[in-house]
Amino acid sequence: MNKENTVKIKFYNGETIPLELHKARVVQKLNLVPVERRLEALHEGGFNTFRLTTQDVFLDMLTDSGTNAMSDRQLAAMMHADDAYAGSQSFFRLQQAVEEVLKKKYFLPVHQGRAAENVLAKAYITKNAGLIPMNYHFTTALAHITQYGGRIVELLYDEAYCIASAHPFKGNMHIEKLEAVIREHGRETIPFIRMEASTNLIGGQPFSVQNLREVRQIADRYGLRVVLDASLLGENAWLVIRREPEFANATMAEVIAEITGLSDIVYFSARKLSSSRGGGICTNDLTIYRELEALIPLFEGFLTYGGMSVREIEAMAVGLYETLDETMICQSPQFIAWLVDSLTAKGVPMVTPPGVLGAHVDAMTMCAHIPQTQYPAGALAAAFYLISGVRGMERGSVSSQRDASGNETYADMELLRLAVPRRVFTLSQLKYVEDRLVWLHENRRLIGGLKFVYEPPVLRFFMGGLAPVSDWPEQLIAKFKADFGDSL
Ligand SMILES: Cc1ncc(COP(=O)(O)O)c(C=O)c1O
Repeated sequence: MNKENTVKIKFYNGETIPLELHKARVVQKLNLVPVERRLEALHEGGFNTFRLTTQDVFLDMLTDSGTNAMSDRQLAAMMHADDAYAGSQSFFRLQQAVEEVLKKKYFLPVHQGRAAENVLAKAYITKNAGLIPMNYHFTTALAHITQYGGRIVELLYDEAYCIASAHPFKGNMHIEKLEAVIREHGRETIPFIRMEASTNLIGGQPFSVQNLREVRQIADRYGLRVVLDASLLGENAWLVIRREPEFANATMAEVIAEITGLSDIVYFSARKLSSSRGGGICTNDLTIYRELEALIPLFEGFLTYGGMSVREIEAMAVGLYETLDETMICQSPQFIAWLVDSLTAKGVPMVTPPGVLGAHVDAMTMCAHIPQTQYPAGALAAAFYLISGVRGMERGSVSSQRDASGNETYADMELLRLAVPRRVFTLSQLKYVEDRLVWLHENRRLIGGLKFVYEPPVLRFFMGGLAPVSDWPEQLIAKFKADFGDSL
């Protein structure tokens, strides 16, 4: 396991395994249905793991969004929520948490992260001035930008696209390319620069504070705004402390303040950032606040609830403070690092260095025999569910959207993401994941491709339906039964 990811508690036997600094006080029963039922479930759900129901899922590694474990303090806070359409005290507690943690005094609540993206796109994107330079897109951010006639340009360094890498900050924006894009297209065509903390779609990879400082310098030079997607800011900050020498002795609060201080607008999915629900947009600029304010009642709800229940608002406030607690933030990246390191050691191609939010399997390598036209990452996600009951998420071409002419845009990476929500799974559960994935890797040639049978026009990966191109699922089951007998 990477030394940087281990907690400070050492084991006498020399093992470097993550040690949880929390205990479970509420638990939820899981069931593992037989492999035959899992095949039925896949057919019913169009070989799309989004469409499985949790009754058929053993370990739900689809996402960390809204699935992180809440703390006892968050649950307790939900009980003293103040129900009011306008002027709720719950809102003011949240506003204070935003100011203290994210250091922004103007706050607009929204019902989840993509709602913030909708508001920002509606406010700032037009057909003529809609070019958004970013380190990398997130599905919903891209969908909202294009919905309003905008387009994006992704400016990562080449290293970010190397699956196996030791680069500590694969989420860094390419500074020279950023300046070149601004010069080529003109600053007036660019409403803002978007930086995503712990860049989700390339394997949860962080940016460095130094990189953000350089982005800020360019933004100031050309009079542009920097928008930060802070959904995974806590983990990005934690990795900055571990990987950026200048911050080796900094606190989470200091790094978070440094990052948000370099951004004009900060938005987030609270489903991730604060282990709750909801979302928000915040800024210290009154002009920006006024530009966005009127859109909240239009799309979300009154300005003191923004589409959230007051209970969610209370949980979010407490969750924001808890983001500053290293013992909470470190649990998921440490488990991910354990899983990535163990699988890499056994030959399974993984995105490295280990990032945040999940462990990412490189389907392009593991399923090199499946052409990209047959969605290798989608096929791997379906195959892994079939032989394990573990639900991961396709993060590849199924998750991409067609271009304006309706052509496929194949993803840079074909990944199976196995999310590790905060404080949810145990190490033995991850050992099961490791065991089944190693078996699947050894039997990878039995995995076949998929084809779309139902393709929604927007965000197709959520509800799209696919089908196997051959009887490969049956053949995979036959091998599973030969090797595992009557084991589930
Ligand atoms: C980086 C990032 N931005 C935005 C979003 C959208 O947030 P939400 O799911 O709350 O709408 C997500 C969700 O996963 C995300 O990971």
